[in-house]
Amino acid sequence: AAADKGAYPYYMLKEIDEQPAVMRRIQGKYLDNNEPKFDAKLIKQLTDATKLYIVGAGTSYHAGLVGKKLFEKLAKTPTEVVVASEFAYDDPIIEDGAMFIFLSQSGETADSRQVLVRATNEWKVPTLTITNVDNSTLAREADNAVTLEAGPEIAVASTKAYTAQIAVEVLLATAVGRIKDITAAKEIDLNEQFSQTANAMQVVVDEKDQIQKIAEDNLAKTRNAFYIGRGLDYNVALEASLKLKEISYIQAEGFAAGELKHGTIALIEKGTPVIGIITQAATADNTRSNLQEVLSRGANVINIVREGLAKDGDQIIIPSVDEIMMPLVSVVVGQLMAYYATLLRGYNVDQPRNLAKSVTVE
Ligand code: G6P
Repeated sequence: AAADKGAYPYYMLKEIDEQPAVMRRIQGKYLDNNEPKFDAKLIKQLTDATKLYIVGAGTSYHAGLVGKKLFEKLAKTPTEVVVASEFAYDDPIIEDGAMFIFLSQSGETADSRQVLVRATNEWKVPTLTITNVDNSTLAREADNAVTLEAGPEIAVASTKAYTAQIAVEVLLATAVGRIKDITAAKEIDLNEQFSQTANAMQVVVDEKDQIQKIAEDNLAKTRNAFYIGRGLDYNVALEASLKLKEISYIQAEGFAAGELKHGTIALIEKGTPVIGIITQAATADNTRSNLQEVLSRGANVINIVREGLAKDGDQIIIPSVDEIMMPLVSVVVGQLMAYYATLLRGYNVDQPRNLAKSVTVE
């Protein structure tokens, strides 16, 4: 059965490994002849929206951060991403033409539901839930629902749901952008990109030994660690550091590479692991200089760099796909890094202390 861990020691590792297959499943279900295939009413509502709000918690919030960049680039729709538990009690100014997208693996998160209730009853705006669980509360209560097709996710630390959320956001944003005649949306070859991304993820999961070794050398004993990046790489830095915190209990922080020097660099000591993510050409050099700054303060620098931007001495080189798809590939390294750090430190990967898979209280 899909929820059987088979020969795997932990569900998390199984779910990490499933990600290339999930990409292909999403491609099969939501792409037809290179055109995104969704309910027509949903696409009309999204296209008519002059402002999108993406709502989520935890990992889903992080997938929303990537979604903002996708909707702004591919569909040119202004997008705001909000933490559900904060937004639920804010006094936002919701303009006419707004639409709300709820990202939730479980579809049961109470914080997100609280925003959905307000969106429906108070702001009276169209709503969409993107979830891994058909028929979940958020799926039933929104005007529209799209299923992630990631298959059951059992490990508390979310992996394949995050990448599935981003994949679905790419397709939705492209669908809207093509109707709005946005060049970036018209130019992206979705079939090609999805196939290449699935293959690139496969390359990363096939290189587990290398990531395990880097985790051994850098994360076995450390008290803290940083992930840094810019733009989409920053968004992935947040998610990769959340993975590390959740299961290995290393105090990890994801930081905007350029912002580090404005205060937080004070925390860098001899041996502090700083993992830089470099997949975007426009910011690669700047992130490299930020890594240089921490290196000269004694940090253990590890970098994750996409092919084409790699230089001598880079540690983890990942295959290149369209830059907007790179989070789908780079995050897999972060997931595996967290997995191996946790094994080394002797904790239960699938059942971290204090955490629940879905949180149905506010
Ligand atoms: C819990 C889980 C997180 C998850 C968050 C949001 O806190 O431990 O892994 O990201 O809820 O869950 P959702 O099901 O709404 O995506």
